[in-house]
Amino acid sequence: MSIKKISKEQPSDFQFSKKNLEEAQKIIKNYPDGKQQSAVMPLLYLAQKQNDNWIPLAAMKYIAKFLNMPYIKVYEVATFYSMYNLSPVGKYFIQVCTTTPCMIRGAYDLVNVCKERISENENQLSKDKTCSWMEVECLGACVNAPMMQINNDYFEDLNEEKFEKIINQIQTGEKPKPGSYKGRKISEPENNRKTLLNIKNA
Ligand code: FES
Repeated sequence: MSIKKISKEQPSDFQFSKKNLEEAQKIIKNYPDGKQQSAVMPLLYLAQKQNDNWIPLAAMKYIAKFLNMPYIKVYEVATFYSMYNLSPVGKYFIQVCTTTPCMIRGAYDLVNVCKERISENENQLSKDKTCSWMEVECLGACVNAPMMQINNDYFEDLNEEKFEKIINQIQTGEKPKPGSYKGRKISEPENNRKTLLNIKNA
């Protein structure tokens, strides 16, 4: 289970860059009059992207003012969803799914690799500060379990050995290839297909 950790070191101030301010105003226009607070999630995401992939408390306060809503409501949203990082993450941010389908297919073997190769605790930067990891709930790719997400890419059908290779690549500056590590295309069967045989392009 993932533990939300709020960084002890916080910047005293946050504001959107000129470009993100324009983007935020565009996002708000997507919502009907009086419902602008519904933009809180995309605005938190925008703040996270601007701030090296994590959201400081100052950004939550800034967004609360921006949307004219109580700070506690922004805080509740930011602390609820695992997609918001509340402490600094590595350049390579690894999210290992440990929900049941991934768990019974070996997700905790991947967690052990994270502990050995990255940091003993989740949400803690590696010594060279390039990587960090955390456990997350289902990422919607259960059919190719166990899986994990590195930044914006999914890596599926993993085991310890394959994950070790991915970490080696990251540490030597190579970009690992996303997708299935059993060579499957999307979620096709591992062996020969047994269904939908008479449907073209199925
Ligand atoms: S349980 Fe891991 S992706 Fe759904």
